[in-house]
Amino acid sequence: MSARTYDFIVFGATSFVGKILSNYLVQNYEPGELNWAMAARPESKLNELKAELGEKGANIPTLIADAANAEQLTNMCVQAKVIVSTVGPYALYGEPLVKVCCDTGTDYCDLTGEAQWIADMLGKYESVAQESGARIVNSCGFDSIPSDLGVFFLQEHAKEKFDEYCFRVKLRVKAMKGGASGGTIASMLNIAKQAAKDPELRRQLVNPYVLCPDGHPFFARQANNNKAKFDEDFKRWTAPFVMEAINTRIVHRSNALRDAAYGKNFLYDEAMFAKGKAQQRECHLAWEALCWLQQLPLFAA
Ligand SMILES: NC(=O)c1ccc[n+]([C@@H]2O[C@H](COP(=O)([O-])OP(=O)(O)OC[C@H]3O[C@@H](n4cnc5c(N)ncnc54)[C@H](OP(=O)(O)O)[C@@H]3O)[C@@H](O)[C@H]2O)c1
Repeated sequence: MSARTYDFIVFGATSFVGKILSNYLVQNYEPGELNWAMAARPESKLNELKAELGEKGANIPTLIADAANAEQLTNMCVQAKVIVSTVGPYALYGEPLVKVCCDTGTDYCDLTGEAQWIADMLGKYESVAQESGARIVNSCGFDSIPSDLGVFFLQEHAKEKFDEYCFRVKLRVKAMKGGASGGTIASMLNIAKQAAKDPELRRQLVNPYVLCPDGHPFFARQANNNKAKFDEDFKRWTAPFVMEAINTRIVHRSNALRDAAYGKNFLYDEAMFAKGKAQQRECHLAWEALCWLQQLPLFAA
């Protein structure tokens, strides 16, 4: 590992998220402080990005790599200790890079919210990664860091204070800023499209333990927050939270990987507080619209 040129490479640096990340890095670290590079498919877009980043970005090295080109991916991976990938939807473009990282023992992280794709990659490459030593860490964005680490720190605090872990944790989102990026919407549409024609995938998507290793000890029935509900604990109405479908799976996987430290019957669910009657009605309408959209020929194809 020590012979690798870069500490990390941002793959997909020209994506919406890749640009935000690259800009953050050049604004917050002095030249030379971090040893990193930017990679993307078209050289022209990388040059545009460098121009946007200004003087501080001028000396950041760039590499050309297409997500479908194994040779370019290998050339990129062997130069870095870690690949940070923002090229999504991952179910469409992500597999070749995961494979090359596993084969070359390169650490990897991404921003995927696609549980079915993570399950697929675990099945195909987990043993290869264990062999090569590559650490593949999915869902390192808004989904699912606050949920996974939030539960972890809360449970550690509970253990310290009460000498036991909480058997149930609820995450309730009070407010959120910003909207879904183009890549996020593309990923959601891709999942809906795949699920419309694949019953096995639909079963996977509703399984809270889909990312837990085979033979996991969990059977507890988890709460289903897919419609507006009154939450007695908070005395407030709640609506479905869009990231619940990935976050809950990641939290249960973490519990499984820690030998069910939070308990075999650990319950975890997420929802959003609805602010008033009008918002509750909006939630209902949005949910009905989504169900209706899924009936359209686009998704049934
Ligand atoms: N967890 C979170 O908090 C969070 C937040 C936002 C986004 N995301 C996820 O992050 C991913 C990126 O989102 P985004 O909004 O930044 O997407 P985006 O702006 O649509 O960017 C997608 C990028 O993928 C690149 N790409 C597509 N095919 C490629 C290929 N064959 N080889 C190399 N690059 C290729 C595109 O490059 P070209 O310009 O060459 O087409 C583009 O730069 C999505 O999967 C999204 O779901 C997660």
